[in-house]
Amino acid sequence: MTLHCLVNTKKSHSDMPSTSRMFHDACVVLGVEYREYTIANFPLSQLPVLGNDDLLYRISWGQKAHTAERMMITPTCTTFYTHWESAVGTRGCSYFIHKNIGLPVIPSVPYIPVTEEDLSAAIEYLGGFPLIVKMRGGSYGIGVMQVDSLQSLRSILDYLRSLRSSILIRKYIAHRYYARLIVLGDRVIASHITYPPVGEFRTNASDSIKEKPEARVFSEDIQQIAVRAVRSLGIETGGVDLLFDENDQPYIAEVNFPNDFRYTQNVTGINIAEEMVKYLLEKQRRNTSSSLS
Ligand SMILES: Nc1ncnc2c1ncn2[C@@H]1O[C@H](COP(=O)(O)OP(=O)(O)O)[C@@H](O)[C@H]1O
Ligand SMILES: [Mg+2]
Repeated sequence: MTLHCLVNTKKSHSDMPSTSRMFHDACVVLGVEYREYTIANFPLSQLPVLGNDDLLYRISWGQKAHTAERMMITPTCTTFYTHWESAVGTRGCSYFIHKNIGLPVIPSVPYIPVTEEDLSAAIEYLGGFPLIVKMRGGSYGIGVMQVDSLQSLRSILDYLRSLRSSILIRKYIAHRYYARLIVLGDRVIASHITYPPVGEFRTNASDSIKEKPEARVFSEDIQQIAVRAVRSLGIETGGVDLLFDENDQPYIAEVNFPNDFRYTQNVTGINIAEEMVKYLLEKQRRNTSSSLS
């Protein structure tokens, strides 16, 4: 059995061991061969053809890693996609899926209003200022912007329109901390919370993640929200970001897939990488035995 992992570069964001090191070590423990492709400088024409004895996981975000994954995935290899086609098709915006199935999403306007009337209606729907403008595709809080006035909003939206950016304008959720819940299969296997530092609303901006995270186990109801948020996207693992307002109501900020689970692994002591590889091995075994019978 071989686990094939796709990474963008060898560079790491922090002084923690890299996610690829965690998967490497998990494979050593589980007797699985580990193969890694550093996509930034890997000739994509040389990617292997994957079969029944291959497990595939993309560790990094980024266009090139995504392309490599689309080129590598086959119906026979084992991945965290419920249907391998979801890796190839664009998964659309999770906000729409979650809203449709009744999960607690952050009220959002998923486009840049053109007319004054539309802009006023959007601001009213979102409860007025402050608001959040979120660019799709960012991470570590980059592209999540707090906007405090109509003047700021207009000028920012004009610029983003010129860039043809895909954005969400979201209600501002005043939150004391954010929670990251790691879903694997049908359960939450580990979770933690993080507080923002003084002078910052984003709990995961590059300086905030140095704030001390705390392990936190959530109620069954909250865990079920996270599990449904992940599974409804056609994936079997993911890191769900929840914001809790003053009344402790949860809101789904986003589902991260792949997700940087090192903070959660560090603070909870749960070996997430190993659990993930075990999950793929078990799925591979099930698929193989059902195709034999
Ligand atoms: N609607 C919102 N209201 C208030 N804070 C928000 C809102 N959306 C995001 N944030 C803050 O910004 C952080 C990053 O947002 P998130 O949507 O998870 O994007 P990223 O992909 O950058 O992690 C969150 O952890 C939260 O602290
Ligand atoms: Mg996030």
